[in-house]
Order: sequence, then C-alpha cells, then structure tokens
Amino acid sequence: MAHLRFAVLTSGGDAPGMNAALRGVVREACSLGHVVLGVQRGYYGLLQEDLHPLGPRDVSNILQRGGTVLRTSRCPEFATPEGLQKAAETLRAHSVDALIAIGGNGTLTGALRLAEFWDGQILGLPGTIDNDLYGTDETIGYDTAVTTALEAIDKIRDTAESHERYFLVEVMGRDAGFIALQVALGGGAEEVLVPEEAPDFAAMRDRLHKGRRAGKTSSIIVVAEGAYPGGAAAVAEEMRKLTGDDYRVSVLGHMQRGGSPASRDRLLATRLGAYAVRAAMAGETGKMVGEAGGSLVLVPFADAVGKKKDLDRDLLALARRLAL
Ligand code: F6P
Repeated sequence: MAHLRFAVLTSGGDAPGMNAALRGVVREACSLGHVVLGVQRGYYGLLQEDLHPLGPRDVSNILQRGGTVLRTSRCPEFATPEGLQKAAETLRAHSVDALIAIGGNGTLTGALRLAEFWDGQILGLPGTIDNDLYGTDETIGYDTAVTTALEAIDKIRDTAESHERYFLVEVMGRDAGFIALQVALGGGAEEVLVPEEAPDFAAMRDRLHKGRRAGKTSSIIVVAEGAYPGGAAAVAEEMRKLTGDDYRVSVLGHMQRGGSPASRDRLLATRLGAYAVRAAMAGETGKMVGEAGGSLVLVPFADAVGKKKDLDRDLLALARRLAL
C-alpha cells in the first residue's frame, strides 16, 4: 500500500467538532502509516507556508475542545489567481498527495478553485454551524450551536415570562434558516423568521395577539440573522411601528460557535475525518465527505456548495402549529 502525505486545514468560521475531525484525520492516517501535515490558519497557512507534521500525540486531548487548534481565518487573498498559484506551490514543495479542508461554504468553494491549480487530491469535511451544505444531513458544529442557542432561549424564556414580554432572539446561520428552525422547535418559540420565506409582519402580529388572548404570557420570536435586512433589531422596529408593543432584542452572536462539541458533533466529526482518509486512499478527489440517512457519502464540491439545501417545510409547519 502506497503511503500518502496528507495536509489538513480548518478554514472560515470555526465550528465545535473541528478538533474532533482533525483528530480523526490524523489518527486514522497515522494508524495506516501515512504522514500528516497540519496547516495553520486555513488557506492563509498555505500562502505563508506554515505547515508542520502532526502525529497521534499532537492531537491528544483536543477531541472535547471547541474552536480549532489549527486556528482558522477568512483569506480573500487565497481566492485570487496568485493566491491559488502560491497555495499550489506550497503543496508541491511539501510533496503533499492529498489535502483535507475542513470548513463551510467558502472553504469548499476555495477547494474547488484550488483544483484548477493543483493536481493533488482534495477532500472536504463539512465544518460549519450553519448546516447549509448540500448532500449531508448535518454539518459538524450544527448540533452544538443549536444546543447552545437553546440554553440561551430557555433562560430568555424565564425573564420573558416574568415580565410578560415579547422577545426577539437572533441566531446565526448566514443566509440559511436551519439553526433558527431547530431552535424554534426545540425552544417552543411562538414565531420563527427564516431567510427561506419573506416575513409577513401583519400576520405575525395577529398570531401573537391571538396567543395573548388565549392566555400566553410570554412570546419568543426566533429570527435567523439572514431573515430580514438589519436582523432582529430591524424586525423589532417594524413590529413596534405596527403594534405599539414593546419588543426586547437579544442577539446570541458568536457564543453559538464556541464551547465543547455535543456528542453528535464529536461522533460525526470523528467518523467523517477517518472516512476522508479512506476516501483519499481509494483515489477520490474533489468531494466533500458527508452523512446522509445514516450512511457516509461523498458529494462533489460543486453540488455541496452549488445546490440549495432546503429547509424541512414540514418541520416549519409543525413549529407553527404547536405554537398555538
Ligand atoms: O458561517 C458561520 C458563521 O458563524 C455564520 O453563521 C455567520 O454569519 C458568520 O459565520 C459570522 O462570521 P464572522 O465570524 O466572520 O463574523
């Protein structure tokens, strides 16, 4: 069996479970006699030639840690022809056979472009809290982010209930509503606004007032950051104008990206990391490793970033029915 030289990086917004994925890659590769180089700060590390060998002990005690020990960055310079050329040169200079890129939409788009400049193998792992990559049921970090947001919502419910208030809670997700929908369902929110649907403020007002007449004493409205220009603050403004009611706004922000990965993310990340190594050994390239219907799958980068993963409309309808 030929021994491969892998390079691995984490890029874009960090996600809980990236460390577990890194450990999965390094330990599986080393168990099979391959060599792994860890690239610092995502694609920026390829431009800076900042990469170093990683052995099994280098990934000890990271499985349960949030963030990414490799560090990460958003690197616009990489996406230029000069940047891509430089990254390819670095990979060639270090005799890398296969690159494993862990990240979200931007990371996998970068991987797709890099393939035009470098003829080594490239595999991707879906590492983003947004869960917006097509072809995988969940992305690494999503479950933990939802859990974190739910803990916050439960606390907000306590104070909302005490003051009998309307609360708008803004969650992350870029231009997708996966986190918002899951959090709305799990937190028993009265309303949820997602980018996949245009908001109807008058209908929302009517439902909220109906709920109050039916005896509700607090109202939580989960707002995906991409659901309305200006986010929850702008929605609050619209609702105040329309109703005269007072709305409190809570933006959960980057806390959703931190913390120890939940068990589902640890398992997903570990399985996908190890599978990426096996996929490279089987000669695969240009694909994201994902999980669909309980099976590990390989999804062409062009589909993972190019096709739209739709929200589960039945779940959206369920969240609304149960908020009566
Ligand atoms: O893609 C992950 C994510 O956390 C999005 O949900 C959010 O829109 C964005 O990254 C925030 O990016 P930054 O950390 O650069 O502010």
